[in-house]
Amino acid sequence: MAKRSAWTLFLFFSLIVTLFSSVECAGNISFSFPPQTDIKVDPDAYFQGDTIQLTRNEFVGDLGWSVGWATYNQSVPLWEKSSGALASFTSHFQFLIRNSSSNSADGLTFFIAPFDFKPPANSWGEWLGLFNLTTDGILSNQVVAVEFDTFQDSFDPNDNHVGIDVNSAVSVANVSLSSEGKFLNNTLKNGQAWDSWVDYNGSTKQLQVFLLYNPSANLYNIPKPRSPILSYHIDLRDYIPEIVTVGLSASTGLAFETHTVSAWNCSCTYSLDISSAPSRTRNSSWKIILISLFVCLLVICCFLFIARRCYFKQREARPEEGDIELDEQFAQGPFKFSYAQLSAATHNFSDDEILGRGGFGSVYRGILPTTNETVAIKRIAQGSRQGRKEYISEVTIINKLRHRNLVRLLGWCHEQGELLLVYEFLPNGSLDKYIFNGSKEDCLNWQRRYSVACGIASALIYLHEEWDQRVVHRDVKASIVLLDSNFKAKLGDFGLARVVESDHAASRTTMVAGTRGYMAPEYIESGKASSESDVCSFGAVALEIACGRHPIDYSLEEYDLKVVAWVWDLRRQGKLLDAADKKLEGNFSSWEMEVLMLVGLLCSHPDPKARPTMREVLKILEFDSPLPYLPLNMPVPVYADILISYAGSSSTSLPYAKSKRKISGPLMSDTEAR
Ligand SMILES: *[C@@H]1O[C@H](CO)[C@@H](O)[C@H](O)[C@H]1NC(C)=O
Ligand SMILES: *[C@@H]1O[C@H](CO)[C@@H](O)[C@H](O)[C@H]1NC(C)=O
Ligand SMILES: *[C@@H]1O[C@H](CO)[C@@H](O)[C@H](O)[C@H]1NC(C)=O
Ligand SMILES: *[C@@H]1O[C@H](CO)[C@@H](O)[C@H](O)[C@H]1NC(C)=O
Ligand SMILES: *[C@@H]1O[C@H](CO)[C@@H](O)[C@H](O)[C@H]1NC(C)=O
Ligand SMILES: *[C@@H]1O[C@H](CO)[C@@H](O)[C@H](O)[C@H]1NC(C)=O
Ligand SMILES: *[C@@H]1O[C@H](CO)[C@@H](O)[C@H](O)[C@H]1NC(C)=O
Ligand SMILES: *[C@@H]1O[C@H](CO)[C@@H](O)[C@H](O)[C@H]1NC(C)=O
Ligand SMILES: *[C@@H]1O[C@H](CO)[C@@H](O)[C@H](O)[C@H]1NC(C)=O
Ligand SMILES: *[C@@H]1O[C@H](CO)[C@@H](O)[C@H](O)[C@H]1NC(C)=O
Ligand SMILES: *[C@@H]1O[C@H](CO)[C@@H](O)[C@H](O)[C@H]1NC(C)=O
Ligand SMILES: *[C@@H]1O[C@H](CO)[C@@H](O)[C@H](O)[C@H]1NC(C)=O
Repeated sequence: MAKRSAWTLFLFFSLIVTLFSSVECAGNISFSFPPQTDIKVDPDAYFQGDTIQLTRNEFVGDLGWSVGWATYNQSVPLWEKSSGALASFTSHFQFLIRNSSSNSADGLTFFIAPFDFKPPANSWGEWLGLFNLTTDGILSNQVVAVEFDTFQDSFDPNDNHVGIDVNSAVSVANVSLSSEGKFLNNTLKNGQAWDSWVDYNGSTKQLQVFLLYNPSANLYNIPKPRSPILSYHIDLRDYIPEIVTVGLSASTGLAFETHTVSAWNCSCTYSLDISSAPSRTRNSSWKIILISLFVCLLVICCFLFIARRCYFKQREARPEEGDIELDEQFAQGPFKFSYAQLSAATHNFSDDEILGRGGFGSVYRGILPTTNETVAIKRIAQGSRQGRKEYISEVTIINKLRHRNLVRLLGWCHEQGELLLVYEFLPNGSLDKYIFNGSKEDCLNWQRRYSVACGIASALIYLHEEWDQRVVHRDVKASIVLLDSNFKAKLGDFGLARVVESDHAASRTTMVAGTRGYMAPEYIESGKASSESDVCSFGAVALEIACGRHPIDYSLEEYDLKVVAWVWDLRRQGKLLDAADKKLEGNFSSWEMEVLMLVGLLCSHPDPKARPTMREVLKILEFDSPLPYLPLNMPVPVYADILISYAGSSSTSLPYAKSKRKISGPLMSDTEAR
């Protein structure tokens, strides 16, 4: 009895499914962008005004190694197994690709993929957000795409072509725009608008691509060219599943550009023209059609269900041997370089290319022969055990970190007894140069200083909280903060950071005092680093940025050379702003200056528990939360090591607190807190 009702239920359910799928197939689908209601963006893509930025642009962080998708937020039934009916569709979109240098990458695609398809891991660069080194060329991808490729990979005709991709980034058909008469003067990545139509005719099975250079970027009355630039015969039923997702994807790698979509219209029409199905007849009675359709669907459902399970089981159970090898490699890093490549990049590690030397080796400037990209290459001195440790830690942990305020590791190489790490190259050097170098031109203005402080804070939040594992940097200081061309801060990873400094500064770090100024007292005492000790180092950097002084300043004998004690005392006297860097010549927001200094003091609190977390610090810097309580006198540390001999009177008149207007905290002064 129970069995029978289960069967009835099952049949009823199948009937509903059948009804629904036929309903779904009957209605035509269309959507248009803008507005953004029907569009879903993934993983790096985002809406900006009335456009979609498929990959990151300069306003949100690093442009490199970015993968973005914009897809229709619902499934699209493209064909029907039971009847063999195949839909026709037309997809029109307008895009702009702006190069960042004459050598930029990688391009944009319109694609059709299984509905549950997600951007594969490591699909940046030549894989255009659709494939990766392991999945490229595999039938089970079930992806068909039209690529607008702006980079010449080994398998591409040039860096300005359109291609049709079936399950692989290696096109089955291509056309080079550089030889196409009407496009001769313009390249895809010229920053101007291009309109493209990708049409598929379900009865003729022709996939056609039309392209129009549209520098006026108008969105209406765009004349569709009469003839396609690319036409390819393909029965989509052989390559993609019945229910699909349609989308636009783009990627960048070592070289990059921005990919903007300013309009996208798509429509899918269904002519349930059963005659187009090869093995169907229309002549049987209505009943037989319905029943056979029903049975067919049921069988297909069961089959799909079973096949899916088998498929996934198999995939889990039996990775291919070559894949394991690759996985092992790719578990390690973004790129394995060969020694020959890196040697060529640095002219056999010529002394002329040395950017800096440090404890574990030297850092060279290199130009990668494949892409002409400038990189920084750290060569770890042979036989250095510490260096080897550092190499392993960087390759296993640091290279997985991705944050706009961290210097990126691009690759690695261990061959012929050499240990080499490849980083992005930041031409403008380290923060300390801009704060301490006496020259006026190099002096960083206040606005930039403040945003550098915020940048370092968000990098530390990422290390401490946002990444899978907590990472303690242990060596935060101004000389390891590098600046990119927009003066955005990038925290150097352990070793590199130390060696990128100028020789002059590098020698100073070996002096105990120089490093000690940044180290938290409890770290010195116990030797154990924690996120609190990083916070303390951040405090020292914040004061460096605000005051333009090293944490240990030899002109401050009265305060045991310690900038923290000096600033704390000025604050007690209500003269906090006297500590501001003289080189700024008063060109700063006194409000921000005070906040940054107070944050510096707060983070330098001798008691690690009294220090804020980096997240709290950033909130304070961004004025999202008030300053917590800070005692007027510098608390006496419990660790003998940095005993502060200062014995200030505990003043009850609070000139400083009275002079405050905006700091709204009841936590701002001693009296208010009591
Ligand atoms: C897709 O977009 C429509 C708006 O057209 C919205 O109503 C719907 O909730 C969205 N669906 C999903 C799954 O996001
Ligand atoms: C973009 O590429 C063109 C041609 O290769 C080059 O002239 C131009 O300088 C590049 N744009 C930028 C911003 O580098
Ligand atoms: C390719 O993508 C698949 C699916 O995301 C993933 O399992 C695989 O590890 C990726 N391969 C590489 C080399 O990243
Ligand atoms: C591009 O297309 C041309 C002409 O169809 C063909 O000869 C060539 O092999 C293709 N090149 C690549 C790299 O696919
Ligand atoms: C390309 O530019 C040249 C010189 O500016 C011009 O003579 C030619 O007509 C242009 N070609 C096209 C197809 O616009
Ligand atoms: C497909 O091609 C056929 C034959 O050229 C044509 O009659 C039909 O209108 C086309 N269908 C669509 C949707 O364009
Ligand atoms: C997209 O479709 C809408 C509505 O059908 C239309 O108003 C708009 O002009 C179309 N845009 C483009 C770029 O074709
Ligand atoms: C269907 O029936 C018609 C006449 O009713 C006949 O002309 C046609 O050949 C039949 N088609 C098939 C595929 O049997
Ligand atoms: C680099 O060294 C190799 C062998 O040591 C030599 O053959 C090659 O010419 C050198 N290249 C340069 C650019 O010095
Ligand atoms: C790199 O630059 C050299 C000379 O500057 C040039 O000959 C070469 O074609 C460039 N290579 C690439 C991949 O752009
Ligand atoms: C400091 O500034 C001087 C010019 O005043 C410049 O020559 C020197 O290279 C700078 N030092 C650093 C480390 O940037
Ligand atoms: C580097 O800094 C200088 C000023 O010191 C600035 O003019 C330049 O734009 C920065 N960027 C690069 C890439 O040099």
